[in-house]
Amino acid sequence: MRKKIIAGNWKMHKTQAEALEFLSVLKLNLANTTEKADIVLCVPFTLLSLLSKSLHGGNIHLGAQNIHWANEGAFTGEISGSMLVDLNANYVIVGHSERRQYFGETDKIVNEKVIAAQYHKIKPILCVGETKKQRDAGEVEKVIVKQLEQSLVNVDQGNLVIAYEPIWAIGTGETCNVLEANRIIGIIREQVTNKGITIQYGGSVTPKNISEIMTQPNIDGVLVGGASLNPLSFSEIINY
Ligand code: G3P
Repeated sequence: MRKKIIAGNWKMHKTQAEALEFLSVLKLNLANTTEKADIVLCVPFTLLSLLSKSLHGGNIHLGAQNIHWANEGAFTGEISGSMLVDLNANYVIVGHSERRQYFGETDKIVNEKVIAAQYHKIKPILCVGETKKQRDAGEVEKVIVKQLEQSLVNVDQGNLVIAYEPIWAIGTGETCNVLEANRIIGIIREQVTNKGITIQYGGSVTPKNISEIMTQPNIDGVLVGGASLNPLSFSEIINY
């Protein structure tokens, strides 16, 4: 049985006060059955310390949204894997399309980051996905396979989560057709050697579409952006 993971990606949102308020409302609204899935909150670096204290001992795991390198060094403005371990971050998002698009992250850089996270036993959530242009050109499979091949060099597939996030579905309200998301995730699973990897779907997930998404056999969870910022909508997604 593959592990289900429901993760929120807060991106560049929330102050400390807002994060604490979110957490208290979320905890009040979570059903008792949440142990069926791992819940992960991937928050900005500025909130890791605060939330690591508030989440200590609960079943909500903490994740970061980026990692530069495994260990300390002269890299102004960057964060190492050892720093993430120090703040109890068990997960880190790597290769999100926003980092590829705005910060020039290539598959090679993504590969280095996955390995840096694994060096510290942090579980990377590796994001892959195509643009609208690539989809319209019929290149989805080619793009995904290339991203996987290049990002998974020397990677321990026993400590990895993959998220299929079609870029055109991110923050647009246009969710990928669930049968199509299921098909692409099936293709991703064919590409990996460890067939037990959790593979999530991400892209405009909401309380309305979560049941349809989670009934697909290949989909093991979701990576939620916008809807994870509101504790009521995120708890509805988790409670499903
Ligand atoms: O990493 C999650 C994300 O990119 C999806 O964002 O807002 O479409 O749920 P959203």
